[in-house]
Amino acid sequence: MNTWNKDEQLNALKELRASTDALISYVEAQDGEQQIPENAMWRFPYAPEAKFQADKWRHDYSRALISTLSPTQYLCEFNLGNHEWAALSAFYALGLAELLPRPGQKGVSAEQLAAKSGASLLRLRTVLRSMSRVHLVSEVGHPLSDEWVGSEHVDLMRKDSPSPFGSMVEYCMDDAAKCVNTLPALVKKENANNSGTFLVFGHQDLFSWYATEESGYRSSRFNQAMQSLNGILVGGPTEDYPWDQVTGLAVDVAGGVGGQTIHLVARHSHLKVQIQDLKEVSEDAKKLWATMPPAWADRVEIREHDFNEPQPDDVAKEAQVYFMRFILHDWSNAKAIEILRNLRKKARPDAKLLILEVVLFGMDPRYAQILAVHLMAVAGSNERTEAEYGALLNAGGWKLEKTYRTRSVMSVIEATPA
Ligand SMILES: C[S@@+](CC[C@H](N)C(=O)[O-])C[C@H]1O[C@@H](n2cnc3c(N)ncnc32)[C@H](O)[C@@H]1O
Repeated sequence: MNTWNKDEQLNALKELRASTDALISYVEAQDGEQQIPENAMWRFPYAPEAKFQADKWRHDYSRALISTLSPTQYLCEFNLGNHEWAALSAFYALGLAELLPRPGQKGVSAEQLAAKSGASLLRLRTVLRSMSRVHLVSEVGHPLSDEWVGSEHVDLMRKDSPSPFGSMVEYCMDDAAKCVNTLPALVKKENANNSGTFLVFGHQDLFSWYATEESGYRSSRFNQAMQSLNGILVGGPTEDYPWDQVTGLAVDVAGGVGGQTIHLVARHSHLKVQIQDLKEVSEDAKKLWATMPPAWADRVEIREHDFNEPQPDDVAKEAQVYFMRFILHDWSNAKAIEILRNLRKKARPDAKLLILEVVLFGMDPRYAQILAVHLMAVAGSNERTEAEYGALLNAGGWKLEKTYRTRSVMSVIEATPA
């Protein structure tokens, strides 16, 4: 039997009211015609301060939720969250993103959708209703009208989307889910140096596994999945770091196919970037960049380079800035220090190193904590605080100079050779 703590509940609700009022005042004060910056994390015109306000609002909302739902109800919904995710995966597999009209258009019946997608009508309705609770689809007119439209979010799951989120859905349902299921074993001391990838697939990390023949399509799917995150990742580092001060070569170390670089060269017309990665990925990158507008592609070079080696002499001579997005968080402290040391070996004394990561500051967005669990599962690594990055940098021969907290979930840590 649990008791009802009226004061605690009222406090949570009042906190939520206060942060809602603060957010309303902020939004009211903005010009309705303002463009929302591309890749904004929240959908209103904002500066980084407004993001913190919105994060606080969301934190207060979740506290109000836990203080008002019954504990069993709360835990049930949390525990069964992966069922919604499985429904999303079925939604994608059926190709519903291609079939659903947009809000404001005439709806399409579940029967028609079932006929076109090859789904069982009853099961399709279950999937649609689950997606409707999270507003990804809705029924036109009234609930149970059975005439459906998709929200604009659904566009991201179209196969031809420039941010192909379907690859992320597939990756999460397949590789990541298998690794995540090992979490109860992974958190034990005896597995402190293991990853879920090791326990399930026998490779210590995702990338050594992806580099093997047997992993086949997985590497390309992962790269596409990374690209699909651009909508929430790139805005901050692209807009909120002073790239105008970078006049020499910028090296995107382990840049994948260039998910961050695309936005940098598109936004900053003076930037010249070299994208480095392993052979297979560099080949994928070349294919992708062959399709890019020359105004961007002409300022980008793709070079095969293993970050376990020092930088090639010709690159080190030119490079003013090295940046790494989502690299150090994939690795243990020991390995991350090794990567940093290798970068330091040939870096010019005036070079800068930028670490683009989800740095933990406390009361972080939900995504940051989910990502931390994800990393533990697939890479056996973790997200870090600013102090933890500072310590890694020291050990790797660098000195943390400044951390830019940006409008996105990412921060940019700037370091110089120590
Ligand atoms: C999480 S992805 C991030 C890619 C890119 N920085 C981005 O943010 O889109 C990690 C990247 O590290 C690359 N990588 C892994 N081991 C590497 C190595 N030894 N040398 C160079 N790149 C490596 C992978 O191929 C992959 O592209």
